[in-house]
Amino acid sequence: MKNSERVVVIGAGVAGLTSALQLSKKGYDVTIVAKFVPGDYDIEYTSPWAGANWMSFVKDNERLANYDRITYDVFQKLVKECPDAGIWPRRCITYVRQEDLDKQSDILGGLLDARPWFADVVGNFTTLDPSTLPKGYCQGIAYDSVCINVQVYLPWLQSQCFANGVKLKVVTLKHIKEAMHLHSSGYKADLIVNCTGLQASKLGGVMDPKVYPGRGQTVLVRNHAPAMYSVSGTVDGDDELTYIMSRPGGGTILGGCYQKGNWNGTIDPNLAQRIIRRALEICPDLEKDFPLDIVRHNVGLRPSREGGPRVELEYMEGVGKVVHNYGAGGAGYQSSYGMADHVVELVDLALME
Ligand SMILES: Cc1cc2nc3c(=O)[nH]c(=O)nc-3n(C[C@H](O)[C@H](O)[C@H](O)COP(=O)(O)OP(=O)(O)OC[C@H]3O[C@@H](n4cnc5c(N)ncnc54)[C@H](O)[C@@H]3O)c2cc1C
Ligand SMILES: *[C@@H]1O[C@H](CO)[C@@H](O)[C@H](O)[C@H]1NC(C)=O
Ligand SMILES: *[C@@H]1O[C@H](CO)[C@@H](O)[C@H](O)[C@H]1NC(C)=O
Ligand SMILES: *[C@@H]1O[C@H](CO)[C@@H](O)[C@H](O)[C@H]1NC(C)=O
Repeated sequence: MKNSERVVVIGAGVAGLTSALQLSKKGYDVTIVAKFVPGDYDIEYTSPWAGANWMSFVKDNERLANYDRITYDVFQKLVKECPDAGIWPRRCITYVRQEDLDKQSDILGGLLDARPWFADVVGNFTTLDPSTLPKGYCQGIAYDSVCINVQVYLPWLQSQCFANGVKLKVVTLKHIKEAMHLHSSGYKADLIVNCTGLQASKLGGVMDPKVYPGRGQTVLVRNHAPAMYSVSGTVDGDDELTYIMSRPGGGTILGGCYQKGNWNGTIDPNLAQRIIRRALEICPDLEKDFPLDIVRHNVGLRPSREGGPRVELEYMEGVGKVVHNYGAGGAGYQSSYGMADHVVELVDLALME
């Protein structure tokens, strides 16, 4: 069956592009409308600032685990079949401190488990021998994951959409209902998919008070790391993190922090120094070939949401049928295909007459 219904997707971040791609594969006639698109850099546009990798921190949540599981499998397929997507295989290593095990902070969720939910989903999962861990850590896991060079992957997703006939318009919406009249056919759209990210907290008609920023700051360096690393906590406060993601052909991202409720788009130079110090502590190999060589400092705002991301069908008075897909927080890439497949299910349901 061919679905020729007209769908407008608002947003060209990883959520909007992946949703548009999956909908176009089902035959829907899709137009993306977005203020920011791949190639743009702005504090209102989160996707270009991500690490990014697959490192699920879901705990006891079937729905979210399912999003991540589906996406892991798609990423593995892209690794094998689409070298132009900018996704590469990497070992992912997490070190845990005793004090974080005692606290069970919810930021890292299942990553604090010696055997997380995904142990049987990922390739070559191992629990590390405690005697091999860096000083200060009591538990460690390693598994086959991927690193995504988002500067390659976002334009790749966009071009996959174009190849499938998706149209894109650069537009700033004041209210979600305008989107109904922006389909490329010139006719009224049958349905809107809302992938507005953090701006979901501001867009007229939607304003979701549960959406808040999780500020992240990173340092991009030219140096190479042999794997991807993350730790359960740092000595520099509860909202700071340490992670290292070595990108295919794109240097290495050093992170980071997760500052809840902080909208500040300016680089904090003291935080940058702490990020660099901690990265070198867990991975001295970064300086194996040459001293640390900084390309750029980054700040991005993760679109977090109390209760988790919203993937939901709504009939909005004066607008029409809307499928929401926003609020993935720090998991927008690693959950992208699972969430987009859920969007397709809801769109099928809404347009099945
Ligand atoms: C430092 C950092 C590291 C991260 N690392 C990872 C990682 O390793 N793995 C992972 O999975 N995730 C990671 N993330 C999270 C990930 O980046 C986000 O979850 C994801 O990018 C969110 O994508 P999105 O499409 O929902 O939002 P966005 O990328 O912000 O896109 C929103 C889109 O909506 C459009 N829009 C909004 N309002 C309007 C309007 N009124 N009119 C028109 N258009 C509008 C915007 O212009 C944009 O196109 C990281 C994030 C940060 C900041
Ligand atoms: C992971 O497992 C696969 C298949 O068992 C194997 O071919 C591969 O070498 C392993 N990779 C690592 C890093 O151990
Ligand atoms: C998208 O969802 C957000 C959050 O509910 C809302 O504020 C916004 O108005 C929605 N946009 C559209 C176009 O439905
Ligand atoms: C934003 O962060 C910068 C750098 O840390 C700081 O100098 C500035 O005062 C902050 N601005 C606000 C409004 O907090």
